[in-house]
Amino acid sequence: MKKIAITETVLRDANQSLMATRLPLDEFKAILDDIDKAGYHSVECWGGATFDSCLRYLGEDPWERLRTIKSHMKNTKLQMLLRGQNLLGYHHYSDDMVRRFVRAAVENGMDIIRIFDALNDLRNIKTAVEACLEAGGHAQGAICYTLSPIHNLEMYIGLGKEIEKMGCQSLCIKDMAGIMSPKECFDLVSALKKEINSPIYVHTHQTTGLGFMTYLKAAEAGADGIDCAISAFAGGTSQPATETMVYTLNQMGFDCGVNQKMLKKINDFFIPEERKFIDKGVFDPTVLGIKSDVLVYQIPGGMLSNLMAQLKAQGALDRLDEVLEETPKVRADLGYPPLVTPLSQMVGVQATVNVLVGERYKNIGKEIKAYIRGEYGKAPGEINSELMKKVLGDEQPITGRFAETIEPEFEKAKAEIGDKAKNDLDVLSYICFPEQALKFFEERELKKALVCKYTIEEVK
Ligand code: CO
Repeated sequence: MKKIAITETVLRDANQSLMATRLPLDEFKAILDDIDKAGYHSVECWGGATFDSCLRYLGEDPWERLRTIKSHMKNTKLQMLLRGQNLLGYHHYSDDMVRRFVRAAVENGMDIIRIFDALNDLRNIKTAVEACLEAGGHAQGAICYTLSPIHNLEMYIGLGKEIEKMGCQSLCIKDMAGIMSPKECFDLVSALKKEINSPIYVHTHQTTGLGFMTYLKAAEAGADGIDCAISAFAGGTSQPATETMVYTLNQMGFDCGVNQKMLKKINDFFIPEERKFIDKGVFDPTVLGIKSDVLVYQIPGGMLSNLMAQLKAQGALDRLDEVLEETPKVRADLGYPPLVTPLSQMVGVQATVNVLVGERYKNIGKEIKAYIRGEYGKAPGEINSELMKKVLGDEQPITGRFAETIEPEFEKAKAEIGDKAKNDLDVLSYICFPEQALKFFEERELKKALVCKYTIEEVK
């Protein structure tokens, strides 16, 4: 029987895509033992926005969350998403920080680290890949899938080969927007299968309605695994549903390795959770529909809703069509970066500014300037020369790895934060998200003091 592995995303990507990563650990702790028994290849549970959200909104220590999940996963591998040199943030960190962070992730329970760079500039995943391998983790190199006049099969195969050469144990095709069609997926996986030996995992979203079909063609082309979400947290901007995919693939002669009774039990657990967060207004059910406009504009669903929110805040929602026309132009001017964090936000904001100001590039965002200077890596294509001149003047862009220009960060931050950090993991959290981490540390002290006070009063 042919085999295809399933990665369950309910704790990370589904949670992030449907309800802005607001699912607290206490809400899903009770189902972890059953998730472990279901036979998943891995459970994606950390990384992406989870780290930021834990500190910023949930009052949770992200490291403690990781260790707790690990303590329940005796059979199943834990998986995370890492933005290469950006770690879980929005700009590049120093190599010493990347090494320490990745090592700490593995030491605290992470098994598989899926590592990507927003520009597919593989120099930006190198340090993280090396650190993961050194720490004994599984490094999965990811290619961001996008459509543009310069992104073609040849480019993706080149990236796949290079990722394998770097020592990654597996490869992921990461379609963050859900725009990879079944045919494109079949052709890409088939071609990669001929060129590389590593297992290939396909990641998509159900945003445009293509997801189920794309996964079926991925399986037919010989993909080794797909990312799905348990059905209560599936569909729309999240992943295709686990149970539906397993049901279909079984009939097609694939063994997914999962226990369907256990999937039912897991889903029964998450149905009331979905209801609860819809009632609270945290989970907006409109994201569950099919957004065919994403195929027209080829921008991720999250980016589309961000653009609409920005325009609404400015009282300019009627300019949406103009912004949607401007977006691909800005992207072309920047050398066709894939629209993934943080580039999707940067391109969206610049397009909005261009339209609202009424003159293209009259105001240029700080991040866009940094991008043009080369602080995010090498653009996939050519950056518009006029725009480049406008930003740089006579200055030369950075052509080397930007991280090499960043001073080591860890010891400096450790000295700066002093005894507010209880251990080195706190220092890592602080470097990632300084304000949020400090706020979290303060609240943690306060909570401790309260518990202490009540305990003493009880004793009295
Ligand atoms: Co995703």
